[in-house]
Amino acid sequence: MKTNNGRLSKTYLSPARLFIAVAAAIFIAEAIVMAVLYARPLPALAAAMLDPVILVILLFPVLYFLLFRPMLIHITERKKVEEALIKERDKAQRFLDTAEVFMVVLDLSGRVSLINKKGCAVLGYGENFIIGKNWFDSFTPSGTWETAIEALRSPSTLTPVLSESFENPVLTGSGARRDIFWNSAPIIENNAITGILYAGSDITEKKQMEKAIVDSETHYRLVHNSAFDGIIVSSADDKVIDCNPSAEKLFGYEKSELAGAELSGLMPDEYRKRHSEGLKRFLSTGKSQIQGKVLELEGLRKNKERFPIELVLSSFTFENEIKFTGTIRDVTERKKAEKDKALAQTRLNQTQKIEAVGRLAGGIAHDFNNILNAIRGNAELIIEDTERTDPSWPRLNEIIGAVLHASKLTRQLMLFSKGRPSETANVNINDTIENILVMLKRLIGDDIAVITELNPGISTIWTNEGSIEQIILNLTVNARDAMLAGGTLSIKTQELDLDEAACAYMPECKPGKHVVMSVSDTGAGMDKELLSRIFEPFFSTKEPGKGTGLGLSVVYGIVKQIGGCITVESEVGQGALFRVYLPAPGRPRESASLQPETTNVF
Ligand SMILES: Nc1ncnc2c1ncn2[C@@H]1O[C@H](COP(=O)(O)OP(=O)(O)OP(=O)(O)O)[C@@H](O)[C@H]1O
Ligand SMILES: [Mg+2]
Repeated sequence: MKTNNGRLSKTYLSPARLFIAVAAAIFIAEAIVMAVLYARPLPALAAAMLDPVILVILLFPVLYFLLFRPMLIHITERKKVEEALIKERDKAQRFLDTAEVFMVVLDLSGRVSLINKKGCAVLGYGENFIIGKNWFDSFTPSGTWETAIEALRSPSTLTPVLSESFENPVLTGSGARRDIFWNSAPIIENNAITGILYAGSDITEKKQMEKAIVDSETHYRLVHNSAFDGIIVSSADDKVIDCNPSAEKLFGYEKSELAGAELSGLMPDEYRKRHSEGLKRFLSTGKSQIQGKVLELEGLRKNKERFPIELVLSSFTFENEIKFTGTIRDVTERKKAEKDKALAQTRLNQTQKIEAVGRLAGGIAHDFNNILNAIRGNAELIIEDTERTDPSWPRLNEIIGAVLHASKLTRQLMLFSKGRPSETANVNINDTIENILVMLKRLIGDDIAVITELNPGISTIWTNEGSIEQIILNLTVNARDAMLAGGTLSIKTQELDLDEAACAYMPECKPGKHVVMSVSDTGAGMDKELLSRIFEPFFSTKEPGKGTGLGLSVVYGIVKQIGGCITVESEVGQGALFRVYLPAPGRPRESASLQPETTNVF
């Protein structure tokens, strides 16, 4: 193109030179005419004709060689150049058209000067429609391409801008927006930027897919993060890969602390071996006995606290690696509720058994009392005939005393079982203990020391003394039976004000002032299993004939009747401590004298 331009410029004369040549031809023609006329005058017509003839003869070659011929050459050359240009453009266009990328050339005013087939296809317009239109007004959504528009206004800043890649949308004929990733290059002619070539790839689908992936990931994350259950993902080498916020909360670790940590660190020692064996078995055989099942286990928090969990385990393969998902639910509350329910049920059963025993005992007590009366009558008859100096006299006297005491208890037993209030009074427990101490000592034998610590400041209890005696008697006999090789029996009294916090540990106690009678021994003690059953009627670990298993259930019934509660602490080999809490100060219950008790316990 450059050579053609050079040839064109050579054939051309400047208008000034052409003007000078024409003026010179006219001057020469006029000079010739004047010389001819001077040398030989001609008739007027001939003289008049001579001037234009000479002028034409002289001007024609001037005009031909200096104007028409160069002009003809110029037109021919120009046509050739144009054809060459068109050829080159078509060639360029063919190149552009074969490209699978969107290509568009804009001039500095933003008009489209070239677009390839792909570009037309993306925009959904024919080439003719697009060429010459302003790119930004016609084919881009408003508010986009701002940087490119700005850069076009000052072409000197274009080069750095153009060398960048960027993402900008186009607007198609159907009004749809498509995202294109562009590369750009300046078009430079005669050392000046005359336009821009944009080459772009349509990334609309790719972006939509990327967005779909991001959306799906976000959705999954939200489900994962909002799950109430803890979720932990672990690898085949038993390391934590991922966990959700609930899992962080459950175990008390930050996610960053858990990531990469050993999964077995989240379970107490005794579960670890089983866990690693199960994992190995699954990895080698592909068989699992636990996957998909709800397992009841224990978790281990960061502070080493154990807590009951429900675990559901599943596995999946990702990028050829086996991974595991554990869904963990903290069932502390549920377990507690179940335990409370079981406890309530046990107590209900206990109460029902006690009621039944009460009724049964009531029936027997009547006959038993008659037998006692017979013993007492006969004993009294014998003692009347016996001298005081007779060695049998004190023994007979003791028999009568014991029978009297037994009748008193039997009478109370009958009263309780009939559901009628017994003779209640303000009882000072210290006095009751003092009164039966001699008998107690005799009962437990010489191998067992008895210590009493009776706090003189305790309140009285509104109850009947026989019931308190029965409590002390049963606890003492049990202590004796637990200290076959001897030991110490302690009986203490004190007054305590129970608050809500204390009652939380003793659900059967109500807040308020209580007189507490503690009976402890240094005997064999009890394990947890035994402790959970001792208040059951007929539960006894003693040989048949030695224990009925009714002692503690009777104690339990009496304590409930008074409105108190009983606790026991014991460990194997460490003795036992029974604490009886009785509400104080004792106050007559209005209902007691007006209507019968409905609960038949004794
Ligand atoms: N102080 C104690 N030390 C160890 N075990 C005890 C103690 N008190 C009670 N027990 C256990 O509780 C069981 C139930 O006691 P409970 O008084 O109800 O019945 P018993 O003593 O076996 O029979 P009974 O009192 O009717 O003669 C006992 O068999 C014993 O195993
Ligand atoms: Mg007993």
